[in-house]
Amino acid sequence: MPDQPEERLIQLTGAWLEACVALDQRALAGLWTNEQWHNELNDPRRPVVGLVQGEDLRAVACGWLVVDELHITAVAVDPDHRRKGLGKRALEGLLEEARSQGAAHATLEVAQGNQAARRLYEGCGFATAGIRRAYYRNGDDALIQWMRLHNREEVRIAAHS
Ligand SMILES: CC(C)(COP(=O)(O)OP(=O)(O)OC[C@H]1O[C@@H](n2cnc3c(N)ncnc32)[C@H](O)[C@@H]1OP(=O)(O)O)[C@@H](O)C(=O)NCCC(=O)NCCS
Repeated sequence: MPDQPEERLIQLTGAWLEACVALDQRALAGLWTNEQWHNELNDPRRPVVGLVQGEDLRAVACGWLVVDELHITAVAVDPDHRRKGLGKRALEGLLEEARSQGAAHATLEVAQGNQAARRLYEGCGFATAGIRRAYYRNGDDALIQWMRLHNREEVRIAAHS
């Protein structure tokens, strides 16, 4: 098989609507409709980053910027391309985009039973800040995840202290 090109991290636009819906079907069992994805992809306060290999969308991470917080709404990786670091790269790309737009914190909810996602978030610096009991349809609890988004100056000072 010929070598695959490297995955590229990009801001997804409306041109990626079909690919987002298809990835959502494969990775999230159809979380959002076409119309919802259209809204995500066309609102500057809803950053959507993707990892693209050639013409194919392998991973997506998106959220809403609410005042100075990023509310992460979805992170998904193509089932055939998991455990290669794509989820982490997409999430870190989204956090960086939010930081560059002035966000100081990021938050999300994750199902207690979703070990893969919990480990991913923990590895990116999130900590559990609360719990919503029986939040999901299957009765699973939601763990509220929270992290502070350090700006570059703070990171530089911390590295020198
Ligand atoms: C959760 C998800 C996004 C992870 O994507 P991924 O590309 O496989 O994750 P990465 O390869 O970047 O892994 C980063 C870290 O997450 C953790 N992780 C990922 N998959 C894991 C698994 N199946 N079991 C345990 N830990 C896992 C590990 O700590 C991993 O680091 P490591 O590989 O160095 O051990 C992916 O499994 C997915 O799309 N799941 C379905 C959708 C979902 O649940 N999204 C989150 C809620 S919206």
